[in-house]
Amino acid sequence: FGYINYLTERDRGYIIKTLVDGLSRLEYRGYDSAGLAVDGDKKNEVFAFKEVGKVAKLKELIATEAPDMDKVFDCHAGIAHTRWATHGPPSRVNCHPHRSDPKWQFAVVHNGIITNYKELKALLEGKGFKFETETDTEAIAKLAKYIYDQHPSIDFTTLVKSVIKELQGAFGLLLKSVHFPGEVVAARKGSPLVVGVRTAKKMKVDFVDVEFNEDGAALPAEQASQNVALKKQPLGATLGSNLLAPPDKSLLHRSQSRAFLSDDGMPQAAEFFLSSDPSAIVEHTKKVLYLEDDDIAHIHEGQLNIHRLSKTDGMSNVRAIQTLEIELQEIMKGRFDHFMQKEIFEQPESVFNAMRGRLNVEDKTVMLGGLRQYISTIRRCRRLIFIACGTSFHSCMAVRGAFEELTDIPISVELASDFLDRQAPVFRDDTCVFVSQSGETADSLMALRYCLERGALTVGIVNVVGSSISLMTHCGVHINAGPEIGVASTKAYTSQFVCMIMFALSLSEDRASKHQRRLDIMDGLGKIPKQFAEILKMDQEIKELCLKFKDQKSMLLLGRGAQHATALEGALKIKEISYLHCEAVMSGELKHGVLALVDENLPIVMILTRDDIFTKSLNAYQQVIARKGRPIVICNTGDKEFPGEKTDKIEVPHTVDVLQGLLNVIPLQLMAYWLAVAEGLNVDFPRNLAKSVTVE
Ligand code: G6P
Repeated sequence: FGYINYLTERDRGYIIKTLVDGLSRLEYRGYDSAGLAVDGDKKNEVFAFKEVGKVAKLKELIATEAPDMDKVFDCHAGIAHTRWATHGPPSRVNCHPHRSDPKWQFAVVHNGIITNYKELKALLEGKGFKFETETDTEAIAKLAKYIYDQHPSIDFTTLVKSVIKELQGAFGLLLKSVHFPGEVVAARKGSPLVVGVRTAKKMKVDFVDVEFNEDGAALPAEQASQNVALKKQPLGATLGSNLLAPPDKSLLHRSQSRAFLSDDGMPQAAEFFLSSDPSAIVEHTKKVLYLEDDDIAHIHEGQLNIHRLSKTDGMSNVRAIQTLEIELQEIMKGRFDHFMQKEIFEQPESVFNAMRGRLNVEDKTVMLGGLRQYISTIRRCRRLIFIACGTSFHSCMAVRGAFEELTDIPISVELASDFLDRQAPVFRDDTCVFVSQSGETADSLMALRYCLERGALTVGIVNVVGSSISLMTHCGVHINAGPEIGVASTKAYTSQFVCMIMFALSLSEDRASKHQRRLDIMDGLGKIPKQFAEILKMDQEIKELCLKFKDQKSMLLLGRGAQHATALEGALKIKEISYLHCEAVMSGELKHGVLALVDENLPIVMILTRDDIFTKSLNAYQQVIARKGRPIVICNTGDKEFPGEKTDKIEVPHTVDVLQGLLNVIPLQLMAYWLAVAEGLNVDFPRNLAKSVTVE
C-alpha cells in the first residue's frame, strides 16, 4: 500500500494512519508481519517501522516509538506492506519495506517473488553490498542503489525501468527514495496494482505516446520509429555489463504515458493511493486505474504518468479511470464477528447477484453477456478444460457432471500447478476455463499464459473485476459475489458454482433433448437463494453439533458423485480454519482402504442427499454403521431413511441433483466456522495461509 500527497497539508499522524489503515484492509492477503516507511524529521531521513505479527502490532509499535506526529508535510510519499513469508521466516528484519543501505536511500515494498534473486544477490555482494535479510526483495532495493550510484543524474522512472529489466519472477512493487523526495514509482508484472486518485479539481487526462532510448530520454517524434525491432532482453543474465554498456538500439522501447493535470496544465493538489487491491482504496476515493503487466507508474508533483517497459503487443494502451463499485460497508464486518461468518450469511444475496440479469426464471432463459460472442465457438470445441486451485478447483469438480450431461463435450478438471508440472497437451480447438476468486493466483495465471501460448480459447470465471485473469482471458463471467475477505472462501464457491451451471445451460441452449432438464435446472436455480436462507437458520443447531468433535484430531467426510466435490470443499474448510485433519473420501472408495479407520470414536460426516446414486451412497452408510460408526448425516428434509435416534442429522431442502451440492456445502461451511471458533482460533486469519497466493 502506498500513499502520496501533493500540495495537500498532511501531518505525519494522518500519513501513518492512512498507511496503517490501508494495511489493515490488505491484511487478509498475508499477516505474519507488517511495516512501513515515511519521511523523517530531517531532509534525507526515513523512519521505518516493522513488526512481527498482525497490523495491530505494528500500530502498537508506532505508538510506543511515536515520532513527531504533528509534523506537517505538503508533499510526502509513504509505502507500507503486510507480509506472507516466502523467503525467510517472519521476523522484523525480513519484514518490508526493504532498504538499499542503512540510510534508506531506496526503500521497496514488494508483492510476489523474484526468482533470480540469488544471482542478483551474488552479483551485488561482489560489488560490496551487505545483505541483511533472507528475502528476495532486498536485492531490488540494493540494485536500485547500485544503478543510481553509476548514473547519479538518472530520473526515478528510468532507474526503476533499469532495475526491473533485471528481475525475473512476479512483482507488484513500490519504491521511494531520499534522492527523489515526494515521488513513488510503482511497477507490476504478474501481481496486481491499482492506483486511486483524489484531486481537488476536475481531472483532465492527457495521453502521450512517446518512445524512449536506453537512457530513458524521450526521443524527438521524428526519430521515434514505429518499427523498432524489439528484442526481448535476457533478464538478469547480463546484469552489470548491460547496465554500463552504451545504449543498445535493440533496447529501444515505446512508452505510453497518461498524466493527470488540471485544466490549465499546471500540477494540482492531489493524493494517490496505491494498493494490491481496491478494497484498501475505496474509503478514500472511488476513482481508480488498474495497472497492467509491464506498466511503470510514476507519481510526482500531483501527476501520474504511466510508462511501459515493453511494447503493448496488442494490449490496450488505454488505462481508463474507473469508478469502484464496491461500497465501504461491503468490506466491513458489520454485525458479524468474522468476515467468514458474514460471507457465509451473505450467500442468499451473493448467489442471487450471480444470477441477476442473466437468468430469467419466468422466461426460462440464460444470457451470459461476457460469453455471448464466443458461445458458439465454445460449443464446437474439442474439450473443455477447467483449471483452478483450492476452493475454485472444488467448484469446478462440483459442476463437472452437469457439463458432461448437458453439453456432451469431454471435460477435464485440472489443478493449475499439476497441469503445468505435466506440461499437459493443449490445442487450438480446446477451451480452457480459469476459475478464480481473486483472478491473481500465480499457479492459475501461469497456466493461463501456457494455454494462451498454445492458441486455446480462454474463459475466466472470476470475482475480482480488473484482475489479471479477467483481463487476460478472451471472455468470461464475473461472479459478482462482492469482496471476499475471509481467507477461507465461501460465497465465491457458491457463486462460481452458479455461474458455471449457467455457463453449461448456455452451452446446451440449442439441444432439444435437454430442453426439459434445462428448464428444471433453471427452476431449481431460482429457488436457491431462499433455500440458502432456510439452511442458514440451522446455524445454532450446527454449532451445538460441533461440540461432538471437541478434542478430536481427525475426521472423515464422505460423499459420492457430485457430492465428492462437496466433501472435498467441506474438508478443506475444516482443515484451513480449525486445523482439524479432515479427509474427504469418495464413498465408493471407503471399502478399499479407509474403512480400516472407522470405529465408534472416529467422527464421520456423510453426505446422503437423494440423487440417482443414493442407494449406492447408502452402502457406505451401512458399512460405517456395521463398524459401530456413528456418522452425522447430511440428508434431505424429512428423509425417513435415517431415524433420528440412531443418527445425528442435518436436514437440507431438496433441489435438482446438479444443484444439490450448493445446498449441502452450507452446513459444512458453518461446521468449519464453529469448530474454529470453539478452538478460539482466528477464523479470518488461519495460520500459514493467505487469501491470494501470488507465488508459485
Ligand atoms: C488460496 C486461498 C484459497 C483459494 C485458492 C485459490 O490458497 O487460501 O482459499 O481457494 O488460493 O484462489 P483463487 O483466488 O484463485 O480462487
